[in-house]
Amino acid sequence: MKHTDIKELFDKPEKFVDKDVVVCGWIRTLRESKTVSFIELNDGTTIKNLQLVIENVDNIDLKDLLTGTSLKVEGQFVASEKNGYELRLKTLEVLGKCAKDYPLQKKFHSLEFLRELPHLRARTRYFEAVFSVRDQLAQAIHKYFHSHGYKYLHAPIITASDCEGAGEMFRVTTQPWNAKYDTEEEYYANDFFAQKAGLSVSCQLEGEMAAMGLGRIYTFGPTFRAEHSNTTRHLAEFWHVEPEVCFADINDIIEIAEDFIRSIIKDVLENCKEELAFFDQWVEKGLIDKLKSVSSTDFAKVAYTDAIKILQESKKDFKYPVEWGADLQTEHERYLTDEYFKKPVFVVHYPKEIKSFYMKQNDDGKTVAATDLLVPGIGEIIGCSEREADYDKLVDAMTKRNMPLEQYAEYLDTRKYGSVPHSGFGLGFDRMLMYVTGVSNIRDTLLFPRAVGKI
Ligand code: 4AD
Ligand code: MG
Repeated sequence: MKHTDIKELFDKPEKFVDKDVVVCGWIRTLRESKTVSFIELNDGTTIKNLQLVIENVDNIDLKDLLTGTSLKVEGQFVASEKNGYELRLKTLEVLGKCAKDYPLQKKFHSLEFLRELPHLRARTRYFEAVFSVRDQLAQAIHKYFHSHGYKYLHAPIITASDCEGAGEMFRVTTQPWNAKYDTEEEYYANDFFAQKAGLSVSCQLEGEMAAMGLGRIYTFGPTFRAEHSNTTRHLAEFWHVEPEVCFADINDIIEIAEDFIRSIIKDVLENCKEELAFFDQWVEKGLIDKLKSVSSTDFAKVAYTDAIKILQESKKDFKYPVEWGADLQTEHERYLTDEYFKKPVFVVHYPKEIKSFYMKQNDDGKTVAATDLLVPGIGEIIGCSEREADYDKLVDAMTKRNMPLEQYAEYLDTRKYGSVPHSGFGLGFDRMLMYVTGVSNIRDTLLFPRAVGKI
């Protein structure tokens, strides 16, 4: 269907002004008066609507033009004092009528209301803006890695090994619901893969194996966690960005992570001006200033041990106790980011007991070379570490966690055949999108969020 995008009209008005153009889209609103009527038309190419002016046009029955109706129209694109530009309608064709029970009748709907209508919410300005920034952020990530010599790797989604070992894997099975076996082993032996399989929680282990030949790689895809965390920052299916870098220690990877985050924020600032202005006005006041400041100032860095001291000295009445050895809870992370540092902060060198088996053990015997990047308003967006490159130390850490070594034989081979210092991180893409848009519930960062009890 030959037509012009509304975005193109607004981006290059000089090319179209005073000429006839054909535009397609959906009616957002219709305002009628005796002599002249107005339609706000949106085609999804920009969050801006094009105003159609209907005056002295025959054969148009306004009664048919309900909100949500799809149209193909032709008219003269003209400058207007109030709107910048508008379209003086000449012909109108209804592509699809809209039933009267179309739920999106108001200009503003609450996010709670829209969450119940995931299949329709892409037709609102809010979600158009969310998905535009989501797209730009994803493109920015690919651009960053591609231009820095990383190879984009596709890792399997179905896997037999649990990277995080937190028992949060979804099972993948084709056994009938009433399959009965005496033992778990028998059950899995008869299953599709002839062994226990699940959905990947992280592509890190495959990423490490690839990096060990390719030098620098990244994966970017969905990963899955059967966490029963019914929070505003947990999904059962989230998008995960995971670079893995050879010949890099913990300090190198922190530098990379910071440069990466700042660079993708700059990209969004440059390419999503209208959307960010919308979020700044309606969702998080001061958002643009926040992003500008984050993209141009250094992040803070604090050792876990010092972070514990800061929390203890805060005299805050935390729900969860603060003591060396305990994991940081959301309330602790939020104090560090929102009240103490007031900017993104890397918390470095966590106690080894609360972190994963693959992290490099520090010489102090107590901590690992791992860091989480915490940001104001959200908490952890990146989990990062230098990997344990020493075969014996790695086997020791796995044995202490009762991990089945035979299932990780291929992974362990990387430490046998030319092991090198290497590091990597995982960025929660949906959380990053929350940070750059100000959207406060992760379920509003994608169209069909999957969370406990919700599919
Ligand atoms: O800290 P995590 O668990 O780290 C890993 O999985 C490492 N193997 C990554 C790596 O080094 N390659 O997860 C990384 C990030 C978190 O910081 C968080 O932003 C996000 O993934 N994340 C979630 N996002 C949404 N919903 C969930 N349930 C998430 N779990 C983790
Ligand atoms: Mg983590």
